[in-house]
Amino acid sequence: MFSKKKTEQPTIDKEQLELIQNAQKRVAQKRRLYIHFVIFLIGTLFLISLNLIIGFGSNVKVFEKDWFVSVTLLWLCIFIYHLSQVYVAHKFMGKSWEQKQINKLVAKQEARIEKLKHKFEKEETHIAQSNVYNLKTTNHKNITIIVAASENNAIGKNNDLIWHLSHDLKRFKTLTNNHHIIMGRKTFESFPKPLPNRTHIVISRQEDYKVPKGVIVVSSLQKAIAVAKHDAQPFIIGGGEIYKQAMHIANKIELTRVHGHFEADTFFPEIDPSIWKETANTFHKKDEKHKYEFSFITYKRLL
Ligand SMILES: NC(=O)c1ccc[n+]([C@@H]2O[C@H](COP(=O)([O-])OP(=O)(O)OC[C@H]3O[C@@H](n4cnc5c(N)ncnc54)[C@H](OP(=O)(O)O)[C@@H]3O)[C@@H](O)[C@H]2O)c1
Repeated sequence: MFSKKKTEQPTIDKEQLELIQNAQKRVAQKRRLYIHFVIFLIGTLFLISLNLIIGFGSNVKVFEKDWFVSVTLLWLCIFIYHLSQVYVAHKFMGKSWEQKQINKLVAKQEARIEKLKHKFEKEETHIAQSNVYNLKTTNHKNITIIVAASENNAIGKNNDLIWHLSHDLKRFKTLTNNHHIIMGRKTFESFPKPLPNRTHIVISRQEDYKVPKGVIVVSSLQKAIAVAKHDAQPFIIGGGEIYKQAMHIANKIELTRVHGHFEADTFFPEIDPSIWKETANTFHKKDEKHKYEFSFITYKRLL
């Protein structure tokens, strides 16, 4: 009927225990010092009295002084040393003082690291923003992204495509024929050989990246757009890294939406409906040549 009430045990955490132990140690130190002081006081008074009353020790000299005066002075030095041990050394240089100093230094270092991190992040954002700004200022008004992405935006795995849809390949061929196709180095390497009737522009940070004759290598997306400036419609053909950067400058997206969810290691960025407007959409069923349903969708930039 009655539930047993759990008796709550008072708990002492590690920090509290350390404080208690430290306090006990300090009390013991002070007690020893106090006893030392009393013995010293009684001892010296006793010696002085003996000397004054019966002339004790006056006949033996140490450093030209009565021996008990020298002993008292030496004792005083020992007492002062003891006093300083308790009130100076242990107070300022004890374990807890050491720990406090370490904590202070660590906190200082952490604050410095945090400051540097903040500065680095700010610079990184600034560089990223200036890159986007540079890209936005490209004059080209008809940069088109062409991509095939699944419902979960998967576009590739192990540097290869995930599906084979012949209708999609045909569309790619028709749209990009006689145009510049801009791609990342990894996408270029996923081709067995360059595609006919297209000018390939490969983006790479490698200074001595070797490509077959006719293929152009540039070190940034801006440079790729500059090379294709006389093309009425240059195409950005992937992969994931380049699409991500190109989303800021493209005016059009030719998307093949493959209806399904796929495992992948490379993805297309989310298409923001406040930036992109769907202007065409054609659905294709599965058939013997197409293992998956898909839709050709065109988006145009609003902003
Ligand atoms: N479904 C589709 O429509 C489609 C289309 C194309 C590709 N894909 C797939 O996408 C995958 C490849 O994409 P990914 O993201 O791994 O690679 P990627 O974008 O094709 O290439 C990445 C490379 O491009 C270079 N790069 C990127 N940004 C750069 C910049 N700002 N400046 C200079 N160089 C830059 C770097 O080359 P370096 O390392 O040489 O410096 C980087 O390693 C593959 O699986 C492929 O099959 C799918």
